[in-house]
Amino acid sequence: MNDPDADIKSMGLYHHVDRVLNELRELGKDATDPLRADELTVFDQLHYHGTEAVDEAVRAAGIGAGGRVLEIGSGLGGPARHLASTTGAVVTALELQEDHHLMAADLTARCGLDDRVKHVCGDFLTHPWHGGTFDAVVSWLALYHIPRRDVLVGRCRALLDVGGHVYVEDLCALRSFDDPEWEELASALSASYLPSPERYRQDFAEAGFEVVNVDDMTADWTVFTGERLDAYRAEEERHLRVHGAGVFETMCGFYETMVRLFSGGKLGGIRLVARRL
Ligand SMILES: C[S@@+](CC[C@H](N)C(=O)[O-])C[C@H]1O[C@@H](n2cnc3c(N)ncnc32)[C@H](O)[C@@H]1O
Repeated sequence: MNDPDADIKSMGLYHHVDRVLNELRELGKDATDPLRADELTVFDQLHYHGTEAVDEAVRAAGIGAGGRVLEIGSGLGGPARHLASTTGAVVTALELQEDHHLMAADLTARCGLDDRVKHVCGDFLTHPWHGGTFDAVVSWLALYHIPRRDVLVGRCRALLDVGGHVYVEDLCALRSFDDPEWEELASALSASYLPSPERYRQDFAEAGFEVVNVDDMTADWTVFTGERLDAYRAEEERHLRVHGAGVFETMCGFYETMVRLFSGGKLGGIRLVARRL
């Protein structure tokens, strides 16, 4: 990958960041109106089960007021804003794509949360941290985009104080993919690394973490993505009015791909909790 920011745009979910502006207009907000984090959660959580999954991380990683949290791959900033506004934690939200980063920073400022959520644009594999550390590193559906798992887990360890937690929800491989399947995963999902659940666990264990939990999320996310597609199609008239045909078709295509892949028995999902030794 030469330019990860460009390559990642092969994934339909990332094509239309301006759909956020359409949703804000639909909420009756103009370009500078103040916002509340909880009125954005219908469209700013780019993972499964929205804020419930973020609350799960709060419980599993013991995140509380004043806790220092790093989110890897923070997208539109939805999880970071929910974390900061519900727990009082201070979140560093690292995002690769500049358009998502800028949109996220604007939403956070308009929510009055810019004192507790710091948005940073960069690649987790290379971003300089200048010796800073965190109490928890969290991530939803971002790590599978990132090659070099050795560098990734090493950096997670270096950024955590002893006893700090990693909480990850991510894609994995239940069985191996053939070449055409891998080509589709690399383009439609911008996948770079899809290990087995056991390899996922070992990557963290070998890097100096106690792996507390690895949950198989595949069945749950297969149902979730199926219901998401049905709900999106059922609101076709609304989405065409709010977003237009381009966004509607892109999102339908992406949602259909996820249903097909999860139903195919090879793509899986995991939730991993690990503690830095
Ligand atoms: C599926 S989105 C999820 C966003 C957010 N975690 C959420 O759940 O709402 C994954 C995000 O990870 C970002 N990402 C991918 N590779 C990255 C990297 N190397 N460094 C930082 N962010 C990355 C992508 O640009 C994308 O916005």
